[in-house]
Amino acid sequence: MTGNRKDEHVALATAQHSPEQPPAPSQFDEVRFLHHALAGTDRAHVSLRTGFAGVEWPVPLYINAMTGGSERTGEINRDLAIAARETGLPIATGSLSPYLKDPSTAGTFTPVRREHPDGFVMANLNANATPDQARRAIDLVEADALQIHLNTVQETVMPEGDRSFGHWPAAIEAIAAAVEVPVIVKEVGFGLSGRTVERLASLGVRAADVAGRGGTNFARIENGRRARPDYGYLDDWGLSTPAALLDARGHGLPLLASGGVRHPLDAARALALGAHAVGASGGFLTVLLDGGVAALVRHITDWLDQLTALMTMLGAHRPAELADCDVLVTGSLRAFCHDRGID
Ligand code: FNR
Repeated sequence: MTGNRKDEHVALATAQHSPEQPPAPSQFDEVRFLHHALAGTDRAHVSLRTGFAGVEWPVPLYINAMTGGSERTGEINRDLAIAARETGLPIATGSLSPYLKDPSTAGTFTPVRREHPDGFVMANLNANATPDQARRAIDLVEADALQIHLNTVQETVMPEGDRSFGHWPAAIEAIAAAVEVPVIVKEVGFGLSGRTVERLASLGVRAADVAGRGGTNFARIENGRRARPDYGYLDDWGLSTPAALLDARGHGLPLLASGGVRHPLDAARALALGAHAVGASGGFLTVLLDGGVAALVRHITDWLDQLTALMTMLGAHRPAELADCDVLVTGSLRAFCHDRGID
């Protein structure tokens, strides 16, 4: 059952991403760097290295949580990990709850560590897990960090989804106190607000991935799995990734950004809004399934090359220096900031 669901998620998610089409409009378009013609620096002096919560990464880009639990998704995990290794990217496994329910699925997750032995690997779980289950998930892939995903909207629309969420804060606090690796909490595409991030900081979480609206849409995916798509009106629920970054920054945790990052300029915009690194899922998965590992390695290499070029143009020697660039927030995002009292 779970294996089928994982295969359906892959099929429905990739249907939302088309590499041939021009990028769809996004609230990221309302974040504009003010052009300063003399701001540029020398490419030789630009480094992509980044860090947060005691973690050091060679690049500010990572492959975010997706899959595992069925034979096909095990192959996908293997290929994603090869691409991560070849490009130096950190990578997250998909939710390890299939492994906790059925340990025979372990081999669909372990390729992530096997293929990326020296890389930064994150294990991923939901907030129903016990500290013991979190330790087992971390141990399986020798994870350097644990991601816990919050997905009330997805569970609500999912026909077989959970209906009890009230215990999540206590569960997160217990896990954060029990495990030895940093805990990063993420959404799955509906965004984390400032209020949520503040609460997470009080629970012992070390970083937050805002994982906002604008890319892979799990309301649409789960509506697509229902006999009748009763929850179609939730398709545009949530905070976009730039809105979530603006809302969540300054609330006590280092931020990561994912959700609808379409190209290296969106990555630069997210870094300028205060993210320490930027994750991508559905778009990378689609490139992999369309063109194989070599295509994904080329794609990620191009992103890193272009991100370096944009930083050179903008005069940012490190990803964190993008936050010093002059950025104009326009349109609906500007109205959002006004309504929320964000400067
Ligand atoms: C996901 N995502 C996800 N997130 C998570 O925390 N645990 C999971 O198991 C999954 N599973 C999953 C499967 C597939 C096929 C996709 C495409 C995505 C969500 C993912 O990590 C990310 O938060 C969102 O997809 C938004 O990023 P993109 O896809 O817009 O780059």
